[in-house]
Amino acid sequence: MVKICCIGAGYVGGPTMAVIALKCPEIEVAVVDISVSRITAWNSDALPIYEPGLDEVVKKCRGKNLFFSTDVEKHVSEADIVFVSVNTPTKTQGLGAGKAADLTYWESAARMIADVSKSNKIVVEKSTVPVKTAEAIEKILTHNSKGIDFQILSNPEFLAEGTAIQDLFNPDRVLIGGRETPEGQKAIAALRDVYAHWVPVDRIICSNLWSAELSKLAANAFLAQRISSVNAMSALCEATGADVSQVAHAVGKDTRIGPKFLNASVGFGGSCFQKDILNLVYICECNGLPEVANYWKQVIKINDYQKTRFVNRIVSSMFNTVSGKKIAILGFAFKKDTGDTRETPAIDVCKGLLGDKALLSIYDPQVNEEQIQRDLAMKKFDWDHPVHLQPMSPTSIKQVNVVWDAYAATKDAHGVCILTEWDEFKTLDYQRIYNNMRKPAFIFDGRNVVDEAKLRAIGFIVYSIGKPLDQWLKDMPAVA
Ligand code: NAD
Ligand code: UGA
Repeated sequence: MVKICCIGAGYVGGPTMAVIALKCPEIEVAVVDISVSRITAWNSDALPIYEPGLDEVVKKCRGKNLFFSTDVEKHVSEADIVFVSVNTPTKTQGLGAGKAADLTYWESAARMIADVSKSNKIVVEKSTVPVKTAEAIEKILTHNSKGIDFQILSNPEFLAEGTAIQDLFNPDRVLIGGRETPEGQKAIAALRDVYAHWVPVDRIICSNLWSAELSKLAANAFLAQRISSVNAMSALCEATGADVSQVAHAVGKDTRIGPKFLNASVGFGGSCFQKDILNLVYICECNGLPEVANYWKQVIKINDYQKTRFVNRIVSSMFNTVSGKKIAILGFAFKKDTGDTRETPAIDVCKGLLGDKALLSIYDPQVNEEQIQRDLAMKKFDWDHPVHLQPMSPTSIKQVNVVWDAYAATKDAHGVCILTEWDEFKTLDYQRIYNNMRKPAFIFDGRNVVDEAKLRAIGFIVYSIGKPLDQWLKDMPAVA
């Protein structure tokens, strides 16, 4: 029986391995992690991550050919294929701080693999890593190998949160990079056989290691670039009276461009887009390509601009001050259908409003108070470290109140900000919300989910990203 072990039971390791176990009943899959609480949760009825369809997959395989364990060394030593899906955060200190990927966790996983291995292994990079990481990993493994053969593959993951199970069941492609030697090609074939259980072979792309590593960074950079492009347009739409949804629709109808990833928003969030672009920028700089680095940097700058612009719009519309005013925040997760808050634009928007002394009442159907308080108190990039290495829960911010209901959040509020596109925000009873708010009542829709005409008919002053502005907002222009 082929044995697979995955180091890192996070958003990637957990769902990916669960799907491999489901689709390959004759393969034994162990997912290991140093976080005891995460593994305990994976073995319980309350899984550590919220992802539609994940519970069913895990329940079907857990205890049969899918195991979650903290006994990292045992499972690694027994495995034929070891996936490494640990955190690869942005460095916060030293050389490349604020840009380069911090490979501490990856390196310690590689050293541990070398220490405990007694048989040949295929080691698969699942984490997103800088180009040429495989070379460094190869060196660590071979210098400590005691005669064992390690083949390194790059098999980056392209799933998106909220649709992870769907993406894993039916991927656009699976990418496997390996050495162009006979042993490298044999390793590629072994991993291809795993995916071929359910992925059509023409969707399994094989390449050299560096192409696979770079393709992952490039794919995320291209996706983020589309969002920054449409968000840049949204600012111009507001200035000219064009409607960004109409512009995106017309542009996306061109089959060469396509309609996906053209939704204007308060900004992209999530654990990877910013981190991976910063990493790409750093690699370009290290390779003497400042023009290329600056080109990609601009994608992040526009994203930051969009979040700042949103906060400025709120403050300027409300007579240039939100001091002491209750603002309801609807949605805190970085997108709908996930409880993940890593790099969510809500953090920057909330911090911006708190900087102007607002009182925030926050509601998200999947994010609890402890998480929100941690996020608002944590320093940039500290979040992307294993839980036990993160700063202890700091004292909570008093101006922030977290509630479990949109109506409680909006009661007596001066303004409402929609920061995640949860479906339930489309069907709220906005008349009831309006009746219970201070007047004039404002709605700032950072995800373009509400029907502005209906809300204006109720009496709200409505701001929707990239849409023609209310007269009120025209009269109170925001500083960008
Ligand atoms: P995560 O933080 O959810 O999970 C990583 C896990 O690794 C943590 O549970 C941590 O405790 C564990 N870990 C760290 N060092 C370890 C060690 N030495 N031994 C055992 N366990 C260890 O992260 P994630 O979102 O799953 O991302 C993992 C990687 O995948 C990152 O490189 C990320 O860029 C990439 N990625 C993420 C996504 C996504 O949607 N989240 C998608 C594609 C790629
Ligand atoms: C993204 C990529 O889509 C995945 O392919 C990749 O594997 C993953 O990053 C990763 O490497 O971590 P994810 O961040 O989970 O997946 O979610 P996305 O759907 O890409 O959304 C990212 C952010 O962009 C969200 O904040 C979302 O609201 C925003 N977005 C997305 C927009 O503002 N507009 C859009 O049109 C699309």
